[in-house]
Formats: sequence, structure tokens, C-alpha cells
Amino acid sequence: MKISARLSALLAVSALAAGAFAAAPATAQVAAGTGTAAVTPPDISLTNVKQHLADLQSIATANGGNRAHGRTGYKASIDFVKAKLDAAGFTTTLQTFTSSGATGYNLIADWPGGDANQVVMVGSHLDSVTAGPGINDNGSGSAAILETALAVSRTQFQPTKHLRFAWWGAEELGMVGSRYYVNNLPTTDRSKISGYLNFDMLGSPNPGYFVYDDDPTIEQTFKTYYAGIGVPTEIETEGDGRSDHAPFKSAGIPVGGLFSGAETYKTAAQAQKWGGTSGQAFDRCYHASCDTTANVNDTSLDRNSDAIAYAVWNLASGSGTPPGGGTVFSNDTDVAIPDGSTSTATSTVNVTGITGNAPSNLAVGVDIVHTWRGDLKVDLLAPDGSVYALKAANVSDSADNVQTTYTVNASSEVANGAWKLRVQDMYSGDTGYINSFKLTFP
Ligand code: TRP
Ligand code: ZN
Ligand code: CA
Repeated sequence: MKISARLSALLAVSALAAGAFAAAPATAQVAAGTGTAAVTPPDISLTNVKQHLADLQSIATANGGNRAHGRTGYKASIDFVKAKLDAAGFTTTLQTFTSSGATGYNLIADWPGGDANQVVMVGSHLDSVTAGPGINDNGSGSAAILETALAVSRTQFQPTKHLRFAWWGAEELGMVGSRYYVNNLPTTDRSKISGYLNFDMLGSPNPGYFVYDDDPTIEQTFKTYYAGIGVPTEIETEGDGRSDHAPFKSAGIPVGGLFSGAETYKTAAQAQKWGGTSGQAFDRCYHASCDTTANVNDTSLDRNSDAIAYAVWNLASGSGTPPGGGTVFSNDTDVAIPDGSTSTATSTVNVTGITGNAPSNLAVGVDIVHTWRGDLKVDLLAPDGSVYALKAANVSDSADNVQTTYTVNASSEVANGAWKLRVQDMYSGDTGYINSFKLTFP
């Protein structure tokens, strides 16, 4: 589910408490045709999240029915998540600790780039209790942040802030892994964490929609997401100290998170607004052997997964400074290209806040998905309509896709305004779409 630019803009101007998570001053990624600066978070695939849950279930089944600290199912879970992140380009670190006489593991995954002095951290505990496979508690949070991390890689998201994901060990023994991480983090590194977002139980079968009431900016980000999809939320009141945000909070780091409910019963009023069954626990299989893949509510898991992506993109994006410096404006909305036609497809990026003219080395990022790319003639249009040819059609070029960055001398153009990528497909048969269009001002 994508969120309107209007809501993102609203978020960007939300008030801040002193010392709280510093929200983005202005967002630089631009949604299609809106004219409003706004980041566009991806829709997290429920199918993919559920596949990760099915894999965690298989791991439990193959390892005596659980994924608990000190058991083989825990290490197998860590190895599973780590392999996916390594393949996606994350820098992963396995941190070991000892608890109750057994080795425990935290997995830390850093996404290269962003401001190392402003870290947005996202975490979930990966261990289960010994009683069962721990699919809602907490395969759900673990799978949702894994898929969010993979979406960061897929979209090659370049946030202003540095992004770090974490899967904690031995939460069920009293937040042992996350406390170990925080305690062993040098004070200077602690102060670089702008915010820690925790996700523990996101797919409760009789779900509630709870937002932690800690850092006001993080809390408002989640509330804005939920307001955008018209789902009421409640403040999470029972959770302080009950999950991995606690050690971060104790260290003075702004925290927030989401929760769909555990052993507490749903009230009649809650059933009224959220559906489900009143007088019954949010999760009747909490810490039990029946916490399997059957113990997950898809709607709750889907909404919470999308809410994570929404928060990560908004809280980390800031002014869109890529690792090499500069300001990025992009449009990630797909635009179909009419096949073999004189009609063209255009994608628009609205540039704002740049003084004077465009540079002589304007970087024009083009991502077009199309078979037989020789069909395509691609131009950049400046705000005043001036045309810069990026690529001519060439009927003998049979390769797929145009995925490259062109450097354009645009120094005679005023920078601010609506820049367009215009694509014409000259020959019928092969088809495709504009996947994204991005301008980087150095
Ligand atoms: N792992 C947590 C626990 O067993 C799950 C939990 C229960 C929770 N209630 C919560 C997490 C409230 C966050 C907030 O205690
Ligand atoms: Zn838990
Ligand atoms: Ca064609």
C-alpha cells in the first residue's frame, strides 16, 4: 500500500520535541506529478514476508520444534537471515555473547552509505521460546524487517541517514542480546543512533494495532501511516521494558515501535474498531507450541510491514544527500511505454530548492525495463522544454533494459522546475515501462 505525498509532507512538518529524533528537514525524492516533495516508500510484499515465515517454520521443524537461544534452531535462523542480507549487499556482523551457559548471537546489518553520525536502527528479536517455533513471536517482526531490508537493496535506496538492521538473540531470556549490544557500543556510537525502531509481534491472530508511545517523531510517523490507511491505533501501554527497545531507551536513545498484542484480551471496544474476537487474547498461542505459521493474521502482518517501510523511508531519507554528496530528486512510479507509437511516456521530477542554473554535470539516472531496448528513443526535457537527447533508437540493439546514468551539461537551464524523462518506443512488438527517473545535483 503506497501512501500519498500529502501525508508525507504532513509528516515532514510535524513538530519535534527537544532532543527527540530529528525528522527530515525536507524530503528530496519526488512523487509522480504531485509537485510535492515526498519520499515514496515501497509496498512490502506480504507474499515475501510469509515466505520468510515459512522458512523459519521449516527451520524450527527441522530443529526440534523451536528456535530458542542456545538451540540449533536459533543458529540456523541467524544463518538464514544473514545469507539473504549478504547476498543483498549489506555489511553483516555476527556478534556473540554468552547467556545461561550457551553462546548467543546478534546479527547486525549495515546498509552502506548515509551519514554515519545519524543512524536509523531497526530491530527484532529472532529467538523463540523453547515451547514452540515462535512464528508470531517473533518470526513476524524478524521477517518484516528482513523484507524491508531487502526492499532497501532492491530499490538501492540512498538515505541521508545511515541504516542499520538488527536481529537480536536471547530476548526471551530478558533482552540479553540487545542489552549486550547497547552495553558494548562505545558512548560516541550510541550518540550517533538517531532512533531505534523495535518490532516484536506484528501478526497476532486476533490483532490490535499498537504504537509505542516513546519518541514523539517516531510515534507520529507510525500514526501518520495508519491514519493514511484509515486504521485506528492505540498507544502501547503494557510494553515498556518488555522488548529490545528497553536497553536503547535506558541508554537515552529515542525509541519507537509497533505491536499487535500478546496474552492480553481484546476488549469489546477494540473488537468493534479492529474486528476480531473480544474476550479473547490477541495471541492465544503466545509462547506456546501453537505459535506456528497458522498463528498469523495476514492483514496485520501486511499493514505492519508496510508501516515499517514507511517509517524507514521517511525517518532516514532527510534531504536526500547521496554518499558522494549532492541532492537527489527521483520519481519511482512506473510509467508504461506505448508500444510502437508516436505517443511517448514521460516521468516527471520536480526540482526545488536549488539556487541558479543546473550544473554542467547533471547526473540523469534512467531505469527503463524493456525487452529489445533498441526500440527506445530517450530524451531529457528541461523545465522550459529544451530537449537533451540521451539515447537514440537503434533497431539492431536487442539487449534488454536501459539502466544507466547519463551526464548532461545542463548549465544553461534553470535548475528548479519540472524535469521530464521522455521515452518513445519506435517499433512494435517489444514493450516495457519506465521504472524510475532520478536527477542528482552535485
Ligand atoms: N517478547 C515480548 C514478551 O514476551 C512480547 C511482548 C509482550 C511485547 N508484550 C509486549 C513487546 C508489549 C512489546 C510490547 O514480553
Ligand atoms: Zn517477542
Ligand atoms: Ca516495441
